Amino acid sequence: NTPVRDRLRIAIQKSGRLAEPARALLASCGLSWRESRDRLFCYGESLPIDLLLVRDDDIPGLIADGVCDLGIVGRNVLEEQGSERASLDRAPAFREYRALGFGGCRLDIAVPDGWDWQGPQQLDGKRIATSYPALLSRWLKAQNVDAQVVLLSGSVEIAPRLGQAEAICDLVSSGATLSANQLKPVTTLLQSEAVLAGPADALDATRGELADLLQRRLDGALRIRH
Ligand code: PRP
Ligand code: ZN
Ligand code: MG
Repeated sequence: NTPVRDRLRIAIQKSGRLAEPARALLASCGLSWRESRDRLFCYGESLPIDLLLVRDDDIPGLIADGVCDLGIVGRNVLEEQGSERASLDRAPAFREYRALGFGGCRLDIAVPDGWDWQGPQQLDGKRIATSYPALLSRWLKAQNVDAQVVLLSGSVEIAPRLGQAEAICDLVSSGATLSANQLKPVTTLLQSEAVLAGPADALDATRGELADLLQRRLDGALRIRH
């Protein structure tokens, strides 16, 4: 039994690529906060909209559990966890509300520079290292490719040099990490960027109105930017 909240709570990344741009975007919507001493909670001053600073991977679950009402998170994280839920036959609990126009990147398959890439069939019987097992498995199935998914939570790009895998599936932004590891991108599974996420079901009246107000301000702020 979650007590009724009359304030809106938004989860954002505590540190990492989306952390500063997410706060800046919300500030440009007229939000201001008073920070707690541990800097994990920011109490909304201009509006009853609070921030929770968390690991990005925790954001979909926090929305699913109703601990937070909205989140700013990479589409890659949202799609991976959504796809994992779907593969377990669990009902959708969160969804993308809108793209936010920053933090753009791709989820790509990359192979050693020396490979003469012929297409997905070349991955048959190979090992592919990734932090995105659900999205990769779904893609392999759609391509009818039988490959082994090797789960790593980070530094995926060194897996081929360590002999753990022949190829990888990871996020590519500038491409610098791939080239530093003598890998080249060959195909894209997902175009990603920061998105506003929320529950699949509607919020209650008070928080729903705050969420609508925020989205109208986001419309305005994003229109000025582009
Ligand atoms: C991301 C991603 C790649 C890298 C790609 O990692 O996993 O490793 O950035 O960026 P680039 O194409 O500009 O080189 P990040 O630095 O966010 O760290 P993480 O993998 O530990 O999350
Ligand atoms: Zn992360
Ligand atoms: Mg990385």
